[in-house]
Amino acid sequence: MLTQRVQAILQSVNHLRPIPSNVTRVLKELENPKVSLGMIAEYIGLDQALAALVLQMANSAVLGYGRSCSSLNDAVVRIGVKRLKSLLLASVAVDSMNRQLSGYRLGAGELWNHSVGTAVTAEWAARALSYRDPEEAYVAGLLHDIGKLLLDQYVLSDYSQIILYVKKYNQPLWQVEEKLIGIDHARVGGLIAQRWGFPTVLIDAISFHHYPSAAHANPVLPAIVNLANYLTIKVQGSQQGLFCDEIHPDTFAILSLDDVRLERFQQRVMDVLGVSAS
Ligand SMILES: [Fe+2]
Ligand SMILES: [Fe+2]
Repeated sequence: MLTQRVQAILQSVNHLRPIPSNVTRVLKELENPKVSLGMIAEYIGLDQALAALVLQMANSAVLGYGRSCSSLNDAVVRIGVKRLKSLLLASVAVDSMNRQLSGYRLGAGELWNHSVGTAVTAEWAARALSYRDPEEAYVAGLLHDIGKLLLDQYVLSDYSQIILYVKKYNQPLWQVEEKLIGIDHARVGGLIAQRWGFPTVLIDAISFHHYPSAAHANPVLPAIVNLANYLTIKVQGSQQGLFCDEIHPDTFAILSLDDVRLERFQQRVMDVLGVSAS
């Protein structure tokens, strides 16, 4: 039996606005092998908000793009088709990811920074582990915590109890959410991804990013995100009491990791995220 609260959460997932038709149209065009980047730029230009986002991304230092670029054409060329697909998928959530999340004690922009860091780290880890599609890892990293957007208000109302379980009983946040709220942010994120029609591999990566072995069909991508989430928090540092996610023990087996390799990864991720060791 689902609790009333879980039912309310499921209902709010169903009430989320769908992906705007402008975005789905560009996504569809990107599948067309005959389409040119110029045409894609033109389609994006039809939607002001989308155009602004693509320009902002193309000029984002945190995404690793340097020089300023002012035309949509240049932006599309710079970003490239694969990355553009990821950004279009993420575009639905970008605005919300910048807002403050009081339940999770995240200031404005903090979830976004964590998400971008996890995306870049996941892409790097995917290459290091010879995962077949590093771009898939990038977008999974970017969106892994979208469930927090919806669960935040529930975490806020149960905050004192949640922090008690996390701190005193030393339980991972996602398990505490499951226990006290009835569902964790990873599952909620998976439901959101489903609602938005994301590919199954992405839905799984989001749903199981804290418990990769539960994804029977595709445990590798969830495990990469699990690892990237941990490394990003470790390397970026965070004072968030709720935010000290650990690696799931199964991730080691799924990715053939050991402590030595993990340590080496952490060193490399410092370079990748531009954080110098202190
Ligand atoms: Fe998470
Ligand atoms: Fe995370």
